[in-house]
Amino acid sequence: MKILLTGGAGFIGSHFVKQAIQSGHEIVNVDKLTYAGNLDNLEEYAQASQHHFYKEDIVNRENVRAIFEKEQPDVVVHMAAESHVDRSIESGDAFLRTNVTGTYHLLTIAHHYWQSLPKEKRLSFRFVHLSTDEVLGTLQPNEDKFCETTPYRPNSPYAASKASSDLFVRAYHHTYGLPIIIVNTTNNYGPFQFPEKLIPVVILNALEQKSIPVYGDGKQIRDWLFVEDHIEALLKLITYGCIGETYCIGGENEWTNLDVVNEICTLLDRIKPLAQGSYKDLIAFVQDRPGHDRRYAVNANKIHQELGWFARHSMQEGLQKTVQWYVDNAERLNTLFDRHRLGLKNNHEKNF
Ligand SMILES: NC(=O)c1ccc[n+]([C@@H]2O[C@H](COP(=O)([O-])OP(=O)(O)OC[C@H]3O[C@@H](n4cnc5c(N)ncnc54)[C@H](O)[C@@H]3O)[C@@H](O)[C@H]2O)c1
Repeated sequence: MKILLTGGAGFIGSHFVKQAIQSGHEIVNVDKLTYAGNLDNLEEYAQASQHHFYKEDIVNRENVRAIFEKEQPDVVVHMAAESHVDRSIESGDAFLRTNVTGTYHLLTIAHHYWQSLPKEKRLSFRFVHLSTDEVLGTLQPNEDKFCETTPYRPNSPYAASKASSDLFVRAYHHTYGLPIIIVNTTNNYGPFQFPEKLIPVVILNALEQKSIPVYGDGKQIRDWLFVEDHIEALLKLITYGCIGETYCIGGENEWTNLDVVNEICTLLDRIKPLAQGSYKDLIAFVQDRPGHDRRYAVNANKIHQELGWFARHSMQEGLQKTVQWYVDNAERLNTLFDRHRLGLKNNHEKNF
């Protein structure tokens, strides 16, 4: 298949490019290359003949329409987004622009394109929209996990923008019949994640022997999913997912942030021991994020049963691979991290 992917130079997108090409697909990668997008993430795939890269903003409707016309994709996978909750708390403008307007523009283009396709191609066309479990709000410790019928209750400007984009995607199916699939995924982790999110911040701060910031009491629970497992699910959904449906994808790995931080420190103590003491000595509790959701977790039974997909990595296995990758690439990433820190306001480098 020729897959038009938005956001393919970001964390999840770059893994998607690699795994899709390895599975025999061709990728048309449309990415604006914001601070979070980096073609270095794609290493040897950046120049591959199965990878056509367009530096483009999805809000620019005419330019994106021209890419559709030129490339004639079989499927669209939409992941371009502003993705960091802390940045959305500083200002929601870019989130509204890319996540809502950008998604809307992409839908209008995909809709016209889909209508113009010959029958066979029209029948197999899909618009797969990547969203987050954060649109569903927060759970109490003993509450049932989120599932596909959980009502939307976004709590951060980021989650509100993603919720809005999901609703536009849903409406384009209901109103025009556009063959969409919506995916609400839990926290991803793995190599190449931009060093503003929890796991890379912890690893890179630890390696520099800087304090490791933990928000509030560190008891916030997330359901962690190794990024490669997530891409396997997305590739299955493109072919076998039901049109018009939503799928919750999670790793069944509910860990508190503090447990994640402690596990990373234990791994680092083994992989790169300090002259004395433990990396755990660097842990520092910092003021909590405003409106911080307490727990996210999804019930992924639907995708387990319909598609036979299960996450293959335990949290320990995924973290071992991730920590090792950051240790091996620390020098290159620290340069990126410094650049990123300079661009942030209000000393947010203390947090994540
Ligand atoms: N990372 C997670 O844990 C997670 C979990 C659930 C859902 N998601 C969703 O998955 C998607 C990808 O997340 P990620 O963590 O890889 O994000 P990321 O921030 O690492 O990458 C986002 C990519 O989108 C590109 N982009 C941003 N604005 C753009 C625009 N206007 N036009 C074109 N490209 C633009 C950036 O350059 C970057 O390459 C997002 O939609 C996010 O909401 C992420």
